Amino acid sequence: MKIPWYHKTTIYQIYPRSFYDSNQDGIGEIKGILSKLNYLHELGFETLWISPFFSSPQTDFGYDICNYTDIAPEYGSMDDALQLIDEVHKRGMKIVFDMVMNHTSIEHEWFKESRSSRDNSKADWYLWQNSPLPFLREKLGLKVPPNNWKSMTGGNGWHYAKERDEYYWSSFLPFQPDLNYRNPEVKKAIFEIVRFWLRKGVDGFRLDIFNVIYKDAEYRNNPFSPKLIPTEEDPSGFFQEAKYTMNQPESFSFAKELRNVCNEFGEKILLGEITGNTEIIKKYMTKKGDGLGLVFNFEMLNFKFNADYFRELINKIERDFPDPFMPVYVFSNHDRRRSIHRIGEDFRKAKLLHLLQLTVRGVPAMYYGEEIGMTDSKFPFSSALDPIPHKFKWVPRVLLDSIGLTINRDEVRTPMQWDESRNSGFSSAQKTWLPVHENFKAVNIETETKDANSLLNTIRKLLKIRTEESALREGSLDLIGNLPKDVLGYKRKSGSNELVVLLNFGMKDTDFETEKGDCIFRITEKDEIKNNKVELTGYGGIILKFPN
Ligand code: NOJ
Repeated sequence: MKIPWYHKTTIYQIYPRSFYDSNQDGIGEIKGILSKLNYLHELGFETLWISPFFSSPQTDFGYDICNYTDIAPEYGSMDDALQLIDEVHKRGMKIVFDMVMNHTSIEHEWFKESRSSRDNSKADWYLWQNSPLPFLREKLGLKVPPNNWKSMTGGNGWHYAKERDEYYWSSFLPFQPDLNYRNPEVKKAIFEIVRFWLRKGVDGFRLDIFNVIYKDAEYRNNPFSPKLIPTEEDPSGFFQEAKYTMNQPESFSFAKELRNVCNEFGEKILLGEITGNTEIIKKYMTKKGDGLGLVFNFEMLNFKFNADYFRELINKIERDFPDPFMPVYVFSNHDRRRSIHRIGEDFRKAKLLHLLQLTVRGVPAMYYGEEIGMTDSKFPFSSALDPIPHKFKWVPRVLLDSIGLTINRDEVRTPMQWDESRNSGFSSAQKTWLPVHENFKAVNIETETKDANSLLNTIRKLLKIRTEESALREGSLDLIGNLPKDVLGYKRKSGSNELVVLLNFGMKDTDFETEKGDCIFRITEKDEIKNNKVELTGYGGIILKFPN
């Protein structure tokens, strides 16, 4: 089977609001991205995924869309978006838009009309249900939701609209009503939007919370679960099994329908944001590759920094997602703690982590700023711009931190750190939408560009090697046994192109015997191979190439 381009690519996520502000209003925008394309091209990522910049009240910073084919004025114009597509392509790169098709904003004209009465032309475009006990409201003013479903953010996801004397369902937050995909008109309208952007030349989509796209047709109550906190593998939580609100059989066939629409335009990437176990993820991807084709492997967002953890992870992924499946290695995004924050801001560990990410069998997805080791800020919940922390203000912060939850997503969305100047060169405004992280004088692109051994240059080198060695892009992976306890090793092979990657997760130097190969990459000068002996420094790593 021919390998699609998106199984061999490397992905870089841009959060437009925080990338680069070219018009001094403190907010990044499309023109800002345009002016930094050379940086991204030179860095070496092949595919750019841009978080949403469509018309939106920005209550969830673009994940609440009120017009899918219009650009939010603070991010630019349609011309800017078209220029972006064009300029990315001119550099031989690909561009992926963020498709939030599960829900719209409450401000979308579709929803406004849908809410206005029970018999308008869009009355059935969203999920409307009646209370099972309407008299309780009539007589006592009590609102009883249609069933027991809880939203993904906890609490009741049904919201009362007096215009219809009914409740609408929202999987995420109350201002993000879910569309009704059982209505063929909705499907048609969304597929037309997909076609609209494909016609404009985008290379595909990242699909927001695709796992909740369908809900049970009969609105059956979800069963009880003892689980409080949802996890990547099992999205049940808040004492409820998400049996009827997530990963419905129709969602898997919808993935295929969407693939067919994309196929009208050639080979397009569909990258799913899905929570669920392996079997579920594979149902979206399909062995034939006629579903989504790529799904983030989110379980690794909570990685532990040791060789055993990664050995087991790779083992599991290789077992669960063998060729022709392709996993996606991701350690950070706009909703989660930054990867370096999880490893105590240790740049040596970050280099090792990304050596792994860029050399295992999988598509790497990196979040803006991860390449320089940008870390999380800490902000009080009370002044958060992100709506989520306001829901959890009553929970003690230490408790949430100790469980490792990212509640205040502002903390992971601070402006890109370009240089040492004011606002780290992100903007010349008096005030940026979120404050720049205080470490910007040390952690920024300009400084790290000058340092040959910086994290940035390490990643740059690795991305270059990936383009030169087919084994890394499309080769098989075999774990190597009998290595020192803290060392992880694997062989990548494609035809006669054969490489070995060795990573020392221990803090102490180590050495061991290996096959003789040429060193084509090392984390530090002291990571080396002499005859048949490899020497790795603490957190050191090396790539060896074997002559064919
Ligand atoms: C997942 C997105 O990644 C997140 O940022 C957003 O708030 C929700 N989906 C709702 O669209």
